[in-house]
Amino acid sequence: MKKLFFIVLLAFPYVESLAQRDINMGIIPAPVSVKKQSGTFKLDKTVVLISNDKTSAQSADLLNAFVVTKGGFSLREVKTATGDQRSIVLTSAGADQLPAEGYKIDISPKRITITGKDAGLFYGVQSVMQLMPDQKNNEILIDAAEINDFPRFKYRGLHLDVGRHMFPVSFIKKYIDLMAQYKLNNFHWHLTEDQGWRIEIKKYPKLTTVGSSRNGTIIGHHPGVNTDGEVYKGFYTQDEVKDVVAYAAARFINVIPEIELPGHSSAAIAAYPELSCFPERDTFVAENTPWSGSRKGKQVQQTWGVFDDVFVPTDNTFKFLENVLDEVMALFPSKYIHIGGDESPKEYWKESEFCQKLIKKLGLKDEHELQSYFIQRIEKYINSKGRSIIGWDEILEGGLAPNATVMSWRGEDGGIAAAQQKHDVIMTPNAGGLYFDHKQSESADEPTNIGGLAPYAKSYAYDPVPAVLTADEKKYVIGVQANVWTEYMRTPEKVEYFILPRLFSLSEIAWSPVERKNFKNFSEERLPRHLAKLDQDGTNYWVPTPLGQDESVMKGETFTLTLKEPVPGAKIYYTFDLTRPSETATLYTKPVKITVPKGQKQVFKTVVITPSGRRSVVTETILNNGAPEVKSK
Ligand code: ACM
Repeated sequence: MKKLFFIVLLAFPYVESLAQRDINMGIIPAPVSVKKQSGTFKLDKTVVLISNDKTSAQSADLLNAFVVTKGGFSLREVKTATGDQRSIVLTSAGADQLPAEGYKIDISPKRITITGKDAGLFYGVQSVMQLMPDQKNNEILIDAAEINDFPRFKYRGLHLDVGRHMFPVSFIKKYIDLMAQYKLNNFHWHLTEDQGWRIEIKKYPKLTTVGSSRNGTIIGHHPGVNTDGEVYKGFYTQDEVKDVVAYAAARFINVIPEIELPGHSSAAIAAYPELSCFPERDTFVAENTPWSGSRKGKQVQQTWGVFDDVFVPTDNTFKFLENVLDEVMALFPSKYIHIGGDESPKEYWKESEFCQKLIKKLGLKDEHELQSYFIQRIEKYINSKGRSIIGWDEILEGGLAPNATVMSWRGEDGGIAAAQQKHDVIMTPNAGGLYFDHKQSESADEPTNIGGLAPYAKSYAYDPVPAVLTADEKKYVIGVQANVWTEYMRTPEKVEYFILPRLFSLSEIAWSPVERKNFKNFSEERLPRHLAKLDQDGTNYWVPTPLGQDESVMKGETFTLTLKEPVPGAKIYYTFDLTRPSETATLYTKPVKITVPKGQKQVFKTVVITPSGRRSVVTETILNNGAPEVKSK
């Protein structure tokens, strides 16, 4: 008897924690802990807003602006609540006991208290905003609860390539807003590429008069079917950069500039050919590459890929880069400066007499060690200014720069090696669902993309901490990031399509404790709500396929297809006759039962159409009762 009692006692907290597991009141990323309480807080225009310190005033304004949008009324801001006045209180009292960036929310029928400071308070407000349902009769009812929350990783990043295609500052701000709403805190701004240099550098005006402009862009998937023949150009002025950095800082987002070296530097070389090993040599353009305008001299690239013409490691190049970095560091307060380091072919360095002599003079083994020398020299300069470098994992080759943080993109091996060498690591493996330029489904309807398959479920499944690391080594994994390369994203709407809903998966793997991850709850309970908001806001996104349907082959004779719309209010249409489903097909209203004759198969095709008219890709499920398996398209 005594023993049984003991077991029950032990088991009870476990049962409770399982029950708690799925409670997160719709918040993405799932908070560390949520305890529901009884009652509701009625938010209406009689509620007062209290924020007594300077740092919380900004978060209070944010909250009030949201209440105006959501409820159509604003809250009066007061110093203290009187008598039975209901209030929302933002406070830093007690916040020193919370983990970094952490917050606490206490919701009772009388009061909502958000405790935190700086980023913590900001995130607390973000969570409260997510808790608000639509207003009904001029009031918003929020369930009582107690929430404790803080991030798993201190680095939660999202990258954007503006070299291949660039986007207006207004969109960069929208991108930053999305990041902030989902508690991401590092915006990696990839500013220089073979196809365009996108940041004004006053000392080197040709970087933008020449380097920010290409004479055309390939049409279609690389190598392309033609050139569009249009000049594509643009760059961010230093004033615009300052504006973006300040905008991000107000949302507790650090902006990390990336200045690519020594590779991906065709645009800089087009502007200043002396940065090349072979200044007189024409930019190499393969015979079959669609091209617009002259093929002579140094050209900004018009096609995608990796190019041999990289920076020559002369003193002149280092002086150039130091001058560029001086201006960059004056614009970006970020501790980290990203120096690229990826995909830098060694062909020109092998051919170059200067490089070969330098290798000998420095006693280096090969061109990989020359790259390491290059990176280390730049690191020394950046460190001398009190900053640190991040580089892609190729910077491991030939020896890691002493203080470098490694971004592991070619799988996890680079990250594992760096952590074992006691270097900080940010995980962003291209096969881990974190390359948001990969397609989101197998459907033939996916827009042109770089290749690779990364559905949001795959992004969600990724754990940034490799199991092979020891407990000590694991501490070097400071975070996770997703990358957005824009070869095939020409417009903001396309970028939105590629990042959403994967950004939600990233948010949860970057912030929530592993024990709180729950894909079923994420995809079926929370995602629909967040997608509904995008649908209303006019933000583009990849519309998920019907819940309950897989792109798969199901075997059997009788099937019951039970679906649910992935966005509230969306409609699902389907066909069995191999035609493309649309509004004129059968509307799904209840589980579909079907019997497939022996030796035959049926193709079940669906499309989702959301309240705003956005459409999912067409999804096929093959119901096979012994027929040969040939996928229909
Ligand atoms: C990369 O994707 N080349 C870092």
